[in-house]
Amino acid sequence: MLGFRLYSTLVALLFALAAYAQAQSSISVFVASSPSIDIATRFLETVHLRKPTAFHSFLHMLTEFKVRPKIAFTNPAFAPRAPGLDGKPRAGPYADHNPVFTRLATQNESFVALEHTLLRSRELRERGAYTLFKLALAGGIANGNVREMYRVWEEREKEVEQPAKIRGDASPKTYSFDRFFPYDALNSSLPLVVLYAAPTDEALPELYNALHALAAPASGRPPRLQFAIRWRPDLKLELQSYEPDWRVEAAIMDGFEAPQIESDFPIRAVSYIRAAKDKFAALTQVATALPAVASDILATIPRKGLPAAVSLSEQLLINGIPVPLDNLTYSGLLDLLDSERQLIYDVAASTVGLYNEDAAKIIRNSALTIEGPRSSAASLAVPTKERPLKFVNLATALSKLATAFAKNSYIEGVIENETEENDPPAQATVHVVTDLNSEKGQQLVRNALKFAENTAEVRVSFVHNPNPKAEEPHAYSLSTLVAAMVQSEDFPEAFPAEVITFLDFNASPTNLPKRSLDDIWTEENPMTPFVDHGATEEQQTVAKAYWKAARTFCERAGFEPGASAVLMNGRVVDLPEHEFAVGSFSALHQYELRRRIKPVVEAATAVFSDKIRENRKSQADVFAAASSIIGAHGVSRQTISADKLKGLTRLVHGEASHALFLVTAIFDPLSPFGRTVAPILETIRTMPLFAVKAYLLPSSSTSPDLDILTGRAFAVETLFDDNDTETAPRVTFAGLPEGTVLDVKVFDGKTGETLAGPGGQGGETVVVEKTAKEVVFGQVVEVTSDEDVKAHVRDEL
Ligand SMILES: *[C@@H]1O[C@H](CO)[C@@H](O)[C@H](O)[C@H]1NC(C)=O
Ligand SMILES: *[C@@H]1O[C@H](CO)[C@@H](O)[C@H](O)[C@H]1NC(C)=O
Ligand SMILES: *[C@@H]1O[C@H](CO)[C@@H](O)[C@H](O)[C@H]1NC(C)=O
Ligand SMILES: *[C@@H]1O[C@H](CO)[C@@H](O)[C@H](O)[C@H]1NC(C)=O
Ligand SMILES: *[C@@H]1O[C@H](CO)[C@@H](O)[C@H](O)[C@H]1NC(C)=O
Repeated sequence: MLGFRLYSTLVALLFALAAYAQAQSSISVFVASSPSIDIATRFLETVHLRKPTAFHSFLHMLTEFKVRPKIAFTNPAFAPRAPGLDGKPRAGPYADHNPVFTRLATQNESFVALEHTLLRSRELRERGAYTLFKLALAGGIANGNVREMYRVWEEREKEVEQPAKIRGDASPKTYSFDRFFPYDALNSSLPLVVLYAAPTDEALPELYNALHALAAPASGRPPRLQFAIRWRPDLKLELQSYEPDWRVEAAIMDGFEAPQIESDFPIRAVSYIRAAKDKFAALTQVATALPAVASDILATIPRKGLPAAVSLSEQLLINGIPVPLDNLTYSGLLDLLDSERQLIYDVAASTVGLYNEDAAKIIRNSALTIEGPRSSAASLAVPTKERPLKFVNLATALSKLATAFAKNSYIEGVIENETEENDPPAQATVHVVTDLNSEKGQQLVRNALKFAENTAEVRVSFVHNPNPKAEEPHAYSLSTLVAAMVQSEDFPEAFPAEVITFLDFNASPTNLPKRSLDDIWTEENPMTPFVDHGATEEQQTVAKAYWKAARTFCERAGFEPGASAVLMNGRVVDLPEHEFAVGSFSALHQYELRRRIKPVVEAATAVFSDKIRENRKSQADVFAAASSIIGAHGVSRQTISADKLKGLTRLVHGEASHALFLVTAIFDPLSPFGRTVAPILETIRTMPLFAVKAYLLPSSSTSPDLDILTGRAFAVETLFDDNDTETAPRVTFAGLPEGTVLDVKVFDGKTGETLAGPGGQGGETVVVEKTAKEVVFGQVVEVTSDEDVKAHVRDEL
């Protein structure tokens, strides 16, 4: 009986499908842009925006045509000519000309040639950099700049036609998009030349190279001029370009009758997605084009055991950071991803052998707290409105400083019953910033040492930060002792108690230490020579150089000379009175352990390789750097506990453990949130270095929208069709019965403004017909002028 019922359902379904197959068709919507920007201009400007420092060298590499891309250019103009009389093949007319700078290469060929050249630039081969470059390019991030250049060109043209107007105007007009060469900034001692060009202009390479040679003479002579390049439209180039970021809404006006749905429809919808071969595509269909799949959903057997309600709310997280829907634009995403990438790099750089994906995991899984300030607190450890939570990014502050200072300047806390096996890494790294030779500074040091003496798994670095008026240190000064001990790599071997004893001497060249007969200063003790004779001349010189690095650290961290502060894994407590009691160190330690240090230690320890596990110093470096970097970033991350997600339908793409960016989305596929997020997830999943996890919430919607179709163009890559022409990012509504009448509106992805359709501003009425249909919004540019280039180079001085 059951078998028969199943069979008849199936037959009905097949009939339904067959009936649809006859009568269904699709419409595609895309948005043409005006003015058209060719791929080479977009590519160059995207390089300019993403890596300003690489722009001129990249362009120079292209104009010199040093990198011959291994691409077969289809145009016969690039082929070698037939052999001459001597039987040798003759070079073609473009043998030394990069095909990018002609109108003869197809858009795809130009793109491949540019890409090939760019991949030789080390800066963009970095992990993640190239992926985000491609996203920026696909998102037309540079289009605004290029359009602004076109506008400037038009203005310039008008002025040139009326030279009287500009006579005597000697001040060169410059713009925010100008990138000057050979110096990055405008240099008033050099004449400025502006080169107006289109990259598809055969004259460009020669002009560019000539200017380059004058601006950066090979022989090392001084530059004769500086120049900037601005793009102008190439009126000879026939092309169409497209807007990448927009959304479309189509209201069904007529010709489609929504099926009757029942209360189990949401469960059927989720079951439909689960059963699909391409789950993400099915999810997008359900979220954005429900009317087109409603009958298929009705034909799906509802899955048992799907939760009916959960306490979670809809959200989208990238590496645990909640992303508001408004930020789901190309620029919004790129800002977030760039900042994540920088964090990942900084954490990975904290020790050798920590991979970027491990650093990403540490960042994602460190559930550290970024607490708000209290109105007041007795303990200095607690952030208040007057002393808000503050961090120094240790990766930035210690970057490229002498290894002795950055890595080896720590005295270790004392561990009870220490053995070879039982010598765990320091979880907390303390920097005590103060004038080490002042009275208050020495009390601060003494307190830090007493804290270290009784605390396991901490290490302390002392950072001499004298007032400029302070007296010069002498052979027995604490600053000299610390610097010399660090330089000889003996400081980590010293015991806090020994340094305290040394401080007790209050020694100076006129007040030599008074040793007792049976004291601790044995021959083995590395501090003994100081106690006996003070620092040597050489050690005093070394100390000066050492404290220079410390000064750089203080400048980066924002400490004025003479200021005092305590840092614990980068968390800063400023000490205007230069006072911090032993108990305050302990309180700060307990406070930071709970809120920040332990979560980071746990997350980091979980990803350490064996090599890092063997090295307690490396581990301590990672703990300190990671907590300071994540703390300084100051953004709370969320992790969603597994039990809350239990039973939810889950769609997974990519390996989270290899991903730099983990996108977690929790939503109801039938909600407005789902409509926005689903199509973006579907495209993001095609990007390398991304992993996606989508969890589908049970819908509470009893009357899902069966009259509206929506779509979001969000291309993540520049694509070309079989004819080597760029493919427009499009939204296709498929599966609508013939005769359906749609009212189509298209909105700008950034501003939300409606875009004009073929019939002008406002909605466009489109009837679904037997053959697939394309509807173009935006302005289609007619190529009107074939007039040739005017002056390319204009001396703006
Ligand atoms: C400006 O140009 C002059 C001449 O080439 C050069 O000596 C000077 O260093 C430049 N100044 C800056 C700030 O780049
Ligand atoms: C979202 O965009 C706003 C405005 O640009 C920005 O201030 C905020 O940091 C962004 N949030 C995220 C999570 O990217
Ligand atoms: C250190 O050793 C003593 C004596 O063996 C023992 O009582 C104490 O618990 C040990 N401490 C730690 C932290 O293991
Ligand atoms: C490629 O060009 C041919 C001839 O112009 C045309 O028939 C075909 O539809 C084009 N293909 C695409 C994918 O645009
Ligand atoms: C683009 O050009 C490259 C190199 O010539 C070629 O390998 C590739 O197939 C082309 N792609 C398309 C979509 O035509």
